[in-house]
Amino acid sequence: MDNRSTNRRVAQLAAHLQPQIRRDPTAAHKTGFTVAVLGAAGGIGQPLSLLLKRCPLVADLRLYDVVPLAAGVAADVSHVNSRADTRGFHGPSQLPLALEGCDLVVIPAGVPRKPGMTRDDLFNINAGIVRDLVAACAKTCPNAVLNVISNPVNSTVPIAAEVLKDAGVYDPRRLMGVTHLDVMRARTFVSQSKGGDPNAIDVPVVGGHAGVTILPLLSQTRPFPKGGFTAEEARALTHRIQNGGTEVVEAKAGAGSATLSMAAAAAEFAHSCLRGLNGERNVLEHAFVESHLVPGCSFFASRVRLGRAGVEKVLGLGKLSDSEAAGLKALTPELSASIRKGSDFARARCALTSSSTAGAGSRLAAAPGLGA
Ligand code: NAD
Ligand code: LMR
Repeated sequence: MDNRSTNRRVAQLAAHLQPQIRRDPTAAHKTGFTVAVLGAAGGIGQPLSLLLKRCPLVADLRLYDVVPLAAGVAADVSHVNSRADTRGFHGPSQLPLALEGCDLVVIPAGVPRKPGMTRDDLFNINAGIVRDLVAACAKTCPNAVLNVISNPVNSTVPIAAEVLKDAGVYDPRRLMGVTHLDVMRARTFVSQSKGGDPNAIDVPVVGGHAGVTILPLLSQTRPFPKGGFTAEEARALTHRIQNGGTEVVEAKAGAGSATLSMAAAAAEFAHSCLRGLNGERNVLEHAFVESHLVPGCSFFASRVRLGRAGVEKVLGLGKLSDSEAAGLKALTPELSASIRKGSDFARARCALTSSSTAGAGSRLAAAPGLGA
């Protein structure tokens, strides 16, 4: 390559690294939404970015990661012919640029499981990652809807809530843990076992997103399969849905967890959030949100109605079968402990930073280690 073509190539790459954000905030909701993916260079982040590029409601797509590959992913995805303007951002100094004016922020940043690990084993690394990224959101795009994918979701969502509260910008309607993959798995596995179109089957999956906290309500399957579920079928399906993540972790044998199915689930869920923000009525999905449905669980996954403000309504659980009621009773202590673990972690950090950075505005946003 001669000097001129080298310079041209460097300038092209720099355009992805140092984006000039051109946006008319008054026109944003007429032309489409601004969406950021944090962790965009990862196993989930890359296919999710591709799917969001094709989402007709996305006008401005920001792809952020701590690794420089974010620029390459953005360059690659940007060639897909759709209306979404796509730019890459890399490293903590560019995080505010990536978040400026965002309507929706999807967070798949963090480490995945290896065989033999539980999701809770990821807490020590992912808790800090989610805390710092959400602190940046609180500072730069406090009105954005947040979709938290990073595990353990049962704890990372409560962490996010505490960070937003500490920054004075918490609105429970705008914070959602993504559990849509559990719903997709339930649809797929029920269809495989009982027949029917997996696209047309509706199976509520409630509770949380780890092991027994994932509770499929097979008795509420619609359309209800002819002959219903025998006790053994219900037990086997429930077990498979609860262990769908582990099935993939073991099949990938140390190379990560679900990425492609998760990207599909996250893109579908993000699209539903944008449909709600866009004013569409009666958009129903499942999500792990602040909830009063089950005593002892301040966050709980259930069916929700999405709208212009985010979660407009948390819908009830309906009538449970005896085995589902037993499953609900059994999951409550574990879910409640995971929620407390997340809240305590974030509160301890808030107390620490508020005493060391008094008067610094958003206290957590000023904490060191952002994006580490
Ligand atoms: P991955 O390792 O392939 O990708 C993670 C990406 O996050 C990497 O590109 C990494 O550089 C980036 N990252 C790390 N720290 C960051 C930071 N501070 N800021 C921005 N980016 C950062 O992992 P993956 O397979 O994509 O999984 C990501 C997370 O999603 C894991 O915690 C996994 O357990 C979780 N997950 C959740 C669900 C769910 O249903 N909610 C499903 C699958 C995976
Ligand atoms: C999943 O359900 O696939 C994810 O939570 C990833 C995992 O660790 O199982």
